[in-house]
Amino acid sequence: MNVLVIGKGGREHAICKALLRDPAVETIFVAPGNPGMKADATLVPIEEREHEKLVAFAKENEVDLTIVGPEAPLVEGIANTFQQANLAVFGPSQAAAQLEGSKAFAKEFMRRHEIPTATYAVFHNDPEAAKAYVAKMGAPIVVKADGLAAGKGVVVAFSVKEAFGAIDATSKQLGEAGSTIVLEEYLQGEECSFMAFVYGETVVPLALAQDYKRAFDGGRGPNTGGMGAISPVPHLTSIEEEAIHTILQPTASGLVVDGTPFCGILYAGLMVTEDGPKVIEFNVRFGDPETEVVLPRLESPLAQIIVDLLQEKPVHLTWSEETVCGVVVAAEGYPHQPRTGKALPNISVEDICFAGVSEHQGSFLSAGGRVCIVTAKKPSLTEARRAVYERLNAHHWEGFFYRNDIARTRPIALT
Ligand code: AMP
Ligand code: GLY
Repeated sequence: MNVLVIGKGGREHAICKALLRDPAVETIFVAPGNPGMKADATLVPIEEREHEKLVAFAKENEVDLTIVGPEAPLVEGIANTFQQANLAVFGPSQAAAQLEGSKAFAKEFMRRHEIPTATYAVFHNDPEAAKAYVAKMGAPIVVKADGLAAGKGVVVAFSVKEAFGAIDATSKQLGEAGSTIVLEEYLQGEECSFMAFVYGETVVPLALAQDYKRAFDGGRGPNTGGMGAISPVPHLTSIEEEAIHTILQPTASGLVVDGTPFCGILYAGLMVTEDGPKVIEFNVRFGDPETEVVLPRLESPLAQIIVDLLQEKPVHLTWSEETVCGVVVAAEGYPHQPRTGKALPNISVEDICFAGVSEHQGSFLSAGGRVCIVTAKKPSLTEARRAVYERLNAHHWEGFFYRNDIARTRPIALT
């Protein structure tokens, strides 16, 4: 089987590494990929949003399956384009991708299908009405910008004044036309990431993971795409059954009822509250960095699972009992203004998923915010953590930073 992976981050590198372990896979193409993936896949110089070029490439190169990594092309309808060309694609249609593309859509969907989430209100071009709602509800309250914001469009406000400030800033940032703000009840609890392979009504859950979203140790600093992750999450495993029953399955079924059946990875960002798990956000693709710690534990062949799912054959997953810990190395200045062009130390590439890197005279340079994620798979969390930090701490990371407390403390929700 020839497989095309679309994307260029650590998540896509982890997908390529998983495909390498699948005996049914002959060639792995990645578009556009990054130089750190060269050893594991054939790089294709087509950008992730060049839908037509990607379709043409898939046809010319007899690609049997395309896996879409990032959300932007999905929200723009890349899966529709592949399907119209009669090509097998793993990723949701533009309509189903609205679950991630619009927070207002996701909230309305959850209300309609009675999926547990924070109570909310949506305001279109009306900051004054949003402020009146805040004044009525009080703080803490969560202010979210509608649309894709790469994790930057959320403010958890602990005072009414702070919420007003966030509403003003969001309206200004989004501009007069089309500024949609979602205000949400503040949920207290511990967060985790629950992903599943979904095809229509069929839901096949992946192992639970937990992501560390804040930039610095102790859960300080700005929200990021994720600075590290672990899987499994033993102290939260008990919520899985409930979350499948109240969240993942009703979401898949609700999308079928609505006439927009899902195909791909459904990612539920959950808050485990006193009243059970509730949805903080949906994503319509593999999580990053969750994928880098979940897929190394998957013992079943990834491409075959997807092909079986798409052909409506039964799918059963087997998982390693071991724990994976992953620590992200980011460029200094990330997430606001990453400073790039710094040389990575001479670390062996084993168990590293590369993201924002370029290559110069045989060495890697930082070329983005998150540069790479170093992982280790060991019998226990303690051993996995120790192995990652022994590797990282053996090098001098000038121009980079990473958190020192991944898997040592629990992630702290955005405050
Ligand atoms: P999101 O982009 O929606 O995933 O939100 C980013 C982060 O904000 C989450 O990972 C949470 O830490 C926090 N957050 C979002 N919504 C809520 C909520 N309703 N209650 C508490 N924290 C939230
Ligand atoms: N790690 C969060 C995400 O993939 O959106």
